[in-house]
Amino acid sequence: MKTFRTVLAALVCTLVLLSTMQAQNKYVGTKMCGMCHKSDKQGKQLDIWQKSKHAEAYKTLLTAKAAEYAKARGLKKPAVESPECLECHTFGKTVDASLFEKGFDIKEGVQCESCHGAGSQYKSMTVMKDKAKAGAAGLKLYKDEAEIQKFCKSCHNEKSPAYKEFKYDEFWAKIKHTVPKG
Ligand code: HEC
Ligand code: HEC
Ligand code: HEC
Ligand code: HEC
Repeated sequence: MKTFRTVLAALVCTLVLLSTMQAQNKYVGTKMCGMCHKSDKQGKQLDIWQKSKHAEAYKTLLTAKAAEYAKARGLKKPAVESPECLECHTFGKTVDASLFEKGFDIKEGVQCESCHGAGSQYKSMTVMKDKAKAGAAGLKLYKDEAEIQKFCKSCHNEKSPAYKEFKYDEFWAKIKHTVPKG
């Protein structure tokens, strides 16, 4: 009887695990998002992001300055291979590679899905047009400006060896990519 219960418990655990795995969103990459978010009418998010420092954040880890910071921190590996640097220069936290779809490229640094969440399940037009549906499918929705600021500061903080005081209004103005009204 006891073995039966153990087996049953293990089976339930496996099923729960499988179902959460299936529900897991994958990262599709900026090209996919950019397909729809590049026109004047949509607000040219792709273009604005490409010109921002966020798009360079991975490449920055290949510079001499980065090597200097990595050395100063006593890292064993180059900056570009160190989770201690990658966590902010690509994602809020380092992500398992099995969650990357073919179009995803870590070299694109801090990208759409770093801030909006993995897009495999919300990227279709029908879901995207419906904010509630998109939210339910993994699009990260921010309650208010305070929540956005808190999120920015999860990377823009003193743990960064290159930290500059984070002035929200000034910084947001540099990366703002709203959909035009009307
Ligand atoms: C098939 C086209 C399409 C793709 C692909 C797409 N989007 Fe969208 N997205 C839209 C449309 C249409 C809207 C609604 C825009 C509006 O309100 O005018 C939207 C809205 C949004 C919004 C605003 C949601 C809100 O109402 O607050 C965000 C953020 C967003 N998309 C991010 C992304 C990201 C990130 C990706 C890539 C993972 C992506 N989109 C891929 C078409 C698309
Ligand atoms: C996942 C981590 C991460 C998040 C979240 C993040 N940033 Fe950044 N941000 C970076 C990194 C890394 C750089 C430096 C890129 C480089 O220079 O290579 C940067 C650079 C910038 C710059 C350029 C600063 C300069 O010196 O010119 C601005 C502006 C900026 N971020 C604004 C924001 C805003 C506003 C938010 C919140 C909406 C935000 N960031 C959220 C990681 C992040
Ligand atoms: C807590 C998040 C965070 C971590 C961890 C982090 N960075 Fe950064 N890094 C940033 C942000 C944000 C910026 C943009 C500067 C700013 O506005 O504060 C930046 C900018 C830089 C720059 C460009 C500016 C300059 O001084 O030349 C380099 C190089 C850099 N980081 C290297 C590294 C290296 C190497 C590591 C690992 C040892 C690392 N970073 C870890 C967030 C981080
Ligand atoms: C550094 C973080 C960051 C990056 C990178 C980023 N976004 Fe955003 N995005 C935001 C924030 C924060 C908002 C404002 C959300 C809000 O007001 O609720 C936003 C808003 C949007 C909106 C809605 C605009 C509106 O007027 O409602 C769209 C669409 C969007 N982003 C698409 C994209 C796409 C596509 C990319 C990549 C090409 C991208 N974003 C990259 C943080 C980011």
